[in-house]
Amino acid sequence: MSMGSDMYRQQILDHYKNPRNCGEIEEPTYTHAGENPMCGDEIRIDVELDDDEEVIERVAFRGDGCAISQASASMLTGKLQGMTVVEMQELDRDDVVDMLGVDISPMRIKCAVLAEKVVQDGAKIYEGEADLDKTTTEDDE
Ligand code: FES
Repeated sequence: MSMGSDMYRQQILDHYKNPRNCGEIEEPTYTHAGENPMCGDEIRIDVELDDDEEVIERVAFRGDGCAISQASASMLTGKLQGMTVVEMQELDRDDVVDMLGVDISPMRIKCAVLAEKVVQDGAKIYEGEADLDKTTTEDDE
């Protein structure tokens, strides 16, 4: 293992043990939940947008899951603050893997992208572009 990936592993463990932006927003612009059906773990994310509904002002999450899913949610929620909704919708799986900084196995990718899919689906539902109760990462491989 290289020094670089060791550093990223430490970072993942740190975010897992001390999650950032963990909790609830009292009156979020939107809230949405999702699960990894392989294990049943869930994440719910609250998002508060600015008055023009263009920029993400605050994000909070809560959930239970493995180190990758929780660390990914913790890191992503930090990264999203100040981002526009358009920029957030453009994030893809590669951005999440880059953010985590370690190789993610096909099984673990469902854990890694859970938070990203939840926050993106939540925005689509809020904008009336999607109609679903809960996000799943079933199709991610
Ligand atoms: Fe459940 Fe990763 S094993 S979210």
